[in-house]
Amino acid sequence: MLRTHLCAELNQGDIGKEVKLCGWCNTYRDHGGIIFIDLRDKSGIIQLVFDPNSSAYKEASHIRDEYVLIIRGIVRERGEGLENPKLKTGKIEVVVNDLIIENNSKTPPITIGADNTNEELKLKYRYLDLRSNKAYEIFKLRSKVAIEVRNCLNKLGFLEVETPILTKATPEGARDFLVPSRIYNGEFFALPQSPQLFKQLLMMSGFDRYFQIAKCFRDEDLRADRQPEFTQIDIEMSFCDDNDIINVAEILIKDIFKVCGYDIKPPFRRMTYNEAMEKYGSDKPDLRFNLPMCDVGEFFIESSNEIFKNIANNLRLNRFKALKIPQGDSVFSRKILSECEEFVKKFGAKGLAYIQVRDNELKGPIVKFIEESKIESFKEKLNLINGDLVFFGAGEKNVVLDYMGRLRLRVAEIMNLVAKDELNLLWVVDFPMFEFSDNRYYAIHHPFTMPRDIDNKDPLKITSIAYDIVLNGVELGGGSIRIHKDEIQKKVFKLLGISDKEANEKFGFLLEALQYGAPPHGGIAIGFDRLIMLLTKQSSIRDVIAFPKTQKSTCMLTNAPSFVQQEQLNELGIKLNSKTIKGIK
Ligand code: AMO
Repeated sequence: MLRTHLCAELNQGDIGKEVKLCGWCNTYRDHGGIIFIDLRDKSGIIQLVFDPNSSAYKEASHIRDEYVLIIRGIVRERGEGLENPKLKTGKIEVVVNDLIIENNSKTPPITIGADNTNEELKLKYRYLDLRSNKAYEIFKLRSKVAIEVRNCLNKLGFLEVETPILTKATPEGARDFLVPSRIYNGEFFALPQSPQLFKQLLMMSGFDRYFQIAKCFRDEDLRADRQPEFTQIDIEMSFCDDNDIINVAEILIKDIFKVCGYDIKPPFRRMTYNEAMEKYGSDKPDLRFNLPMCDVGEFFIESSNEIFKNIANNLRLNRFKALKIPQGDSVFSRKILSECEEFVKKFGAKGLAYIQVRDNELKGPIVKFIEESKIESFKEKLNLINGDLVFFGAGEKNVVLDYMGRLRLRVAEIMNLVAKDELNLLWVVDFPMFEFSDNRYYAIHHPFTMPRDIDNKDPLKITSIAYDIVLNGVELGGGSIRIHKDEIQKKVFKLLGISDKEANEKFGFLLEALQYGAPPHGGIAIGFDRLIMLLTKQSSIRDVIAFPKTQKSTCMLTNAPSFVQQEQLNELGIKLNSKTIKGIK
């Protein structure tokens, strides 16, 4: 072996020992006559000392950042006042006797481990960026979690099965990545948005309990918690109901958190979709802080303001919401109030009315529009005291819930209400089966989700047996009980306006499989990258993926996507139009 220890494995118990170490030069300091090098490997950093009298000293003066070194030396105590409390090995150092410079390095274009480096540059040199101990720790945890997932699900009787990557479109509803077929010109594979249909087929094969740490591909606009290529912990079970799946997911999440050092106790709280939307304006509410919204339309039914009155008199389509900020008055200066107004306007609000409670009275331009006789009951309903601030949102239901929900999150930031160390898990249940827009119904989860009451006359009242797990306001996973009976599936397709022909073209294989004795089944998928992002307290999913895509969906490292040879296009039967042709070799 080239080494006897890893750098940061050494401790005071090793003082006096001769050790061999390998690693990279993290920093080089020449203190006039004595050279210090911080040597780094995957375990961390140890300080090396090159004494001018040693044979290694002369050679050491050639070392620069990121040179690869192999050394032999003696561990010694640093001595009073020379310790570095920031390093795990800060009490010791290694006095080097022999040095091999195993490899040189060009001056690195990024500083390893620096937080403020331009992200595109970091991604271009991702292999250097990953040299930092912080990155290594993230991937160590990611690997530990993957192993725990396998151990836990194996114990629960789940079988790990791989499903195809070259396949047909799946029903998650994002745009597909397509792969042209060389053998059948003009025909395409689609990369799976999830293994959804295959895992259902495995239930029809009688496998009973399946899981996979599965790669998924979705061509959608990217955000901090979205990548075009990501990983799911994908699970499916037969002969079960929604509680059985929630139970398995809770056991798994508890185990995962345990190996990461967190003790959490299922069962997690459950909330209906309706309550989440009405109180928190989101189907993934962050409940690390409360700040619920409250309906106040009843105080404006006879309002002297015609617009408010009209809104309050049609609460089937509209909402009139108040968001009380306890003791918010002193925090929200005029400037912050107008910033909040600009913020909600971006999401469709026409303005942002508010009331301040001062000297036991309500202040603000909107006060005069509350019916006079109802002022006291308004104060009571909101439980208002001096120093409180109340924001109002009124208008079309979906718009109001959305911008008030976003405002709630913004307020929590401004008031510093988020307990950063808390891990708040929540199940959101009873999702509506359908939503209506552009004159047609859409499946909120996917069209294979089991409705609770498919024969309800009002499709918008039908709920589905679907559930999402939310961690600190981020959708961590989601799943449902699936339709396993052909006649229910047909009714759902009919409501969605999917013709028999279209259904057969898209999912014919699944519909046929339903006719050969499909068991009741359901499942869930947990976003693996999102989970690791939250467990390691990173703000971007890119930090927990070894080679992620940029925000613009490109790979800086390999320069993908890129143009290909004309010959390859010919084989695939693809002709580019004149706008895209210029890059072809
Ligand atoms: P869904 O589409 O809700 O369900 O996805 C499940 C979880 O996968 C994660 N996720 C993503 N993570 C990173 N980047 C993305 N672009 C991305 N898209 C989704 C989220 C999400 O909660 N087949 C169903 C599951 C089922 O019904 O069993 C499905 O894929 O954390």
